[in-house]
Amino acid sequence: MATKVILDVDTGTDDAVALMIAALSPDLKLLGATTVVGNCPCTICTENTLRVFDHIGVPIPVYQGMVEPMVRPDFDRPEESEVHGKYLDLPESTSQAQAQHAVDWLVETFSASAGDITLVPVGPLTNVAMMLRHCPEVAAQIPELVIMGGAHHIGNRSALAEFNIWVDPEAARLVVNCGRPIRMVPLDATHKALISAEDCQQLRGLGTPAATAAATFIERRIEGYDRSQPMKILNTAPVHDALAVCAIIDPTVIKTELIAVDVETKGELTDGATICDFGNRTGKAPNVHFAMDVDVPKFKEMMFDILGRRA
Ligand code: RIB
Ligand code: CA
Repeated sequence: MATKVILDVDTGTDDAVALMIAALSPDLKLLGATTVVGNCPCTICTENTLRVFDHIGVPIPVYQGMVEPMVRPDFDRPEESEVHGKYLDLPESTSQAQAQHAVDWLVETFSASAGDITLVPVGPLTNVAMMLRHCPEVAAQIPELVIMGGAHHIGNRSALAEFNIWVDPEAARLVVNCGRPIRMVPLDATHKALISAEDCQQLRGLGTPAATAAATFIERRIEGYDRSQPMKILNTAPVHDALAVCAIIDPTVIKTELIAVDVETKGELTDGATICDFGNRTGKAPNVHFAMDVDVPKFKEMMFDILGRRA
């Protein structure tokens, strides 16, 4: 029985790969995608998301969401992201986003559900927090949140903060403390699952629309990472959001520890950091299954298998 999922995305290049995996995997039923400000302005995230579904020929409804963080003023973002660019390298979309606001659709969908839809935020948590604020009782309808975000040993937006959490720390704090089962796929995991230029050639060789596009997106990421945030192995890049989606298809692709996690919202140097209490020093009840390790061959095998499919 396919797992019902909703992806909340700030479509950039790795969100795009995650969306294609979710749309093409026989083990998932992608009910819709909601867009949020993050890698780029929300309107561009929406256009990019529409382009992805047009490209693979899967008509998934797209709902546009929050255009700025819940509390803070919008953050300064470069005109073009180093690893995402601006618009995805796909033809302009021919489909339209739905008229309903993403947060309203999320409230309505989870309220009416049988409690069987996994929510998969792979961007800043503004939409999810606004849904929970607007309708706290909807939390009971979410069986699990599988979040790409957070970091324990190393940040990517500051020394300690990961981008998705850093953009909207207040939203992230509300979500990680919502009381529902949470699996978090942080940089500590995604930075171990690096995809290389050779992997991209292998993807391109599959010849499907999804694999060819994924190769282009990941090559763009490799270029950006080598220039701005070189990984231990040059000519590689993490594909963060894709790992979060693969963890729903096969939970054994990541190794998690159940710990207490909270989010710094008032630190001059640590704003947006995920505070991971591995030593249980705070006495706070564990609330997050936090991924610290990855089965990299399994992750790659899943990516190649699913992106090698056609709609
Ligand atoms: O820090 C990585 C995360 O930030 C990914 O979700 C990427 O798409 C950006 O949103
Ligand atoms: Ca993202």
